[in-house]
Amino acid sequence: MRRARARALANVALVKYFGKRDLALNLPAAGSLSLALEPLSTTTAVELDGSLADDVVTLDGEAADQRFAARVSGFLDLLREIAGTTDRARVETSNSFPTAAGLASSASGFAALAVAGSAALDVDLGEGELSALARRGSGSAARSIPGGVALWRAGSRADGTDSYARRVADPGDIDLRMVIGVADAGPKPIGSTAAMELTRETSPYYRAWIDSVDQDLPAAVSAIEARDLPRLGEIAERNALRMHATALAADPGIVFWSSTTIEALHLVRRLRGQGLGVWFTCDAGPQPKVLCGSGDEAAAARALGELPGIERVIRCELGGGAELL
Ligand code: PMV
Repeated sequence: MRRARARALANVALVKYFGKRDLALNLPAAGSLSLALEPLSTTTAVELDGSLADDVVTLDGEAADQRFAARVSGFLDLLREIAGTTDRARVETSNSFPTAAGLASSASGFAALAVAGSAALDVDLGEGELSALARRGSGSAARSIPGGVALWRAGSRADGTDSYARRVADPGDIDLRMVIGVADAGPKPIGSTAAMELTRETSPYYRAWIDSVDQDLPAAVSAIEARDLPRLGEIAERNALRMHATALAADPGIVFWSSTTIEALHLVRRLRGQGLGVWFTCDAGPQPKVLCGSGDEAAAARALGELPGIERVIRCELGGGAELL
């Protein structure tokens, strides 16, 4: 095949990936657990064209900036090496959600690129291999390959072949929703890789953070197996706060939150005090995210949407894995 299209969903971790054991291969220091989120998707088409001198990359219909295009080209080089070709490609990628909204698009982006790129280059990979490949583009992309509730094992091999994600629950298995509040985005103060490295090098809490993930991960997986949302929610909220505490303790401290994020955390706890099953999480940016079941989703979305500083809310449900279109 010379042309292929694929779609993949973004994911949000309930047990976070924050720290690498290998920078070049994007190998994590600990495992992580995530939810694939419908309708936050990236669709990517890859078309090989032997007459091109360079890859041509468009994002949402416009020429991609140089940094983004270089990342895409570097990733395609991995596939070209396996396929034994130097052919360049036309890559058209589009997100169903505003890239500027500050939501991570690298996970869905590299998962869709891995699936479309490998098909276009006729590289036949199994799900685990695709996940390990997507990981090279962006760590969290490994989890968007299987989708659903995905568990990404840290692995122990130096070459990373045992560091990939697999699905531990299907969308129909468990009633999970996530309400995302888009808080005033603005440019990211620090990228996730730089933040992870600074934290690993300077935060006195880094070792304790990695150890706590090793406890949270099996606990979260058993909460999923038991369909115990309150238990899962407690672990997720605690894990997110510990990730941020560890980054805050770096030198200089990394503050991903805005005042709106903190107001949202208080709101979630207030709602919980009133009996709602809602829990807070947050990633490498200011957007508050609320984990809940379908029964509390509307109330959570309403309350979050009324919070000053929240521009809009996006209601998400558990979705599937990356697929060829
Ligand atoms: O995939 P990356 O390298 O952008 O890392 C994402 C890290 C967090 O979003 C902060 C946590 C996670 O597990 O997704």
